[in-house]
Amino acid sequence: MRSRSRYAFAVVPLLLIAALAVPWHASRQAMRLRLGERIYRDGVLPSGALLRGVRPGLGEVSGAQAACVQCHRRSGMGTVEGGQLVPPIAGPFLFQPRAQKLPELDGQHTRGPDLAHALGRSHPRAPYDDRSLQRAICQGTDPTGSSLEALMPRYNLSDSDAQLLVDYLKQLSTRPSPGVTADSIHFATVVTPGVAPQRRKAMLDVLQSYFSVHNGGSRLARLRQKPFLDPEHGRYRAWELHVWELTGPPSTWEAQLLAYERRQPVFALISGVGERTWAPVQQFCEKREVPCWFPTVDLPVTTGSFYSVYFSKGVLLEAEMLARRIGAQATVRRLIEVRTDDEAAAGATRALAAAIGPTGMRLEERVLHTVDRAALQEAVADATAEDALVLWLRGDDLALLAGAHPPPGAVYLSATMAGAEHAPLPAGWKAQARLIYPFELPRERSTNLSRFHSWLATHGQKLVDERLQADAYLASALMSEQVGDMLEVLNRDYLLERAEALLSAHLTPAMYHRLSLGPTQRFASKGGYIARFDGTAESGWIVP
Ligand code: HEC
Repeated sequence: MRSRSRYAFAVVPLLLIAALAVPWHASRQAMRLRLGERIYRDGVLPSGALLRGVRPGLGEVSGAQAACVQCHRRSGMGTVEGGQLVPPIAGPFLFQPRAQKLPELDGQHTRGPDLAHALGRSHPRAPYDDRSLQRAICQGTDPTGSSLEALMPRYNLSDSDAQLLVDYLKQLSTRPSPGVTADSIHFATVVTPGVAPQRRKAMLDVLQSYFSVHNGGSRLARLRQKPFLDPEHGRYRAWELHVWELTGPPSTWEAQLLAYERRQPVFALISGVGERTWAPVQQFCEKREVPCWFPTVDLPVTTGSFYSVYFSKGVLLEAEMLARRIGAQATVRRLIEVRTDDEAAAGATRALAAAIGPTGMRLEERVLHTVDRAALQEAVADATAEDALVLWLRGDDLALLAGAHPPPGAVYLSATMAGAEHAPLPAGWKAQARLIYPFELPRERSTNLSRFHSWLATHGQKLVDERLQADAYLASALMSEQVGDMLEVLNRDYLLERAEALLSAHLTPAMYHRLSLGPTQRFASKGGYIARFDGTAESGWIVP
């Protein structure tokens, strides 16, 4: 009896130590990874000193310039820069031999999407271990002792700092990002409050049809491939769509998004719609490192985004285009902007003021807190031939101009807010007014969109809002293309890096004139036209 209790006395503290040691070990591990990440992404050592490296014959680099992320990218999947291949250095690619021949591109050898394949074939090498990896980083030699190219810096690192990097690389992009399971990929689409029900439905119908066709195709491919199915080589995963509907004031959206995410993590937000602010959604995406994949928003946030990519800057692009246009016309004395409390309109007027800058032009902002016919007509009544009138108004509000005479001078409308050439502007105004048009012109884009239009018809869907529906379709098609090529490296950072590199090669720009992204660029369409209501251009392609 006594001996048993003594035994218990000995066991209890041991258990206690073990229980405390597990979280201690885990948190130490997490801290080491954060330190490794800081070297990798920011070029800052644990001591706070800058990372330094020398490229033989090319000079020294330090700090952010020396950070691995500059060349190998956040995912560690590498890149092609001006014909120069930067190899992947994410864990799975370093600790295996590189394949030499095509048949070796199986689960036993370094494998992965495009770059790894390409490199693997021309530069075979043995797998790394911790020591040879430290040597590669500090001395620029590969496991067989041959020198790496001079573009790869030789880093001046202590053994312990080099080991931090090695440990960071070991886990980099080894597991799929949250939202990916063995047989499905979860996506969410965000709908902000105030979006008209028929627009909301039109977007969701496109997404749901796209997802079900995609899943049908995957099922078929899976059946066909079954006898040869190699689990390492890109599984077929069903796409699942979750609708994250936001309610109430924008200050509460982030908490709502976090709650949705707790219930079901998603690989990315896909498409989505917001007419007013989008800032809380972007904030959520940056904080949680969730890609926000081409939502249709009138007022995006233009700074601080890694995870959000947009088709265009919406009304902010329009404001910059207009400033460019008006700046070229010395005849305009005064610019009268009429708007409501709409946040997109307020954002547009701020952007216009900033873009016009300190010229001699007078800017007058007329804000209608309640929009009625009398107030609106009074706000436009005194515009003279030397004024330009800018209407940052939505469709329904524009209809209230019926009965008022159009002013003798220039009139500009936001195509994004007004509904482009479908804006219900009174006929008398249409001849006079010009649309600030950040899209391809109607006739030209009908060719781009012909496939989309027949797709809509095949799926029994009506054209409700061409921009929103075509954006949702293109966002889905772009996602499908990227995910298909990523094989098993279903990593969120890699998704965005691929979008930067490959978007310019994409087949059809849908609503837009041209789409391209580069590193750090987050808006794919960069310009527009000043257009007449009959769909013809009054200006060339303007890129502000
Ligand atoms: C200026 C661009 C650049 C930077 C910055 C850079 N690298 Fe590299 N790295 C390269 C290039 C290019 C190669 C390919 C060299 C070759 O194949 O000869 C390479 C190769 C490597 C390799 C060998 C990969 C293999 O499969 O053999 C490792 C490991 C590596 N880099 C790690 C790092 C780490 C860690 C950092 C940051 C501390 C870093 N690199 C920063 C350009 C860069």
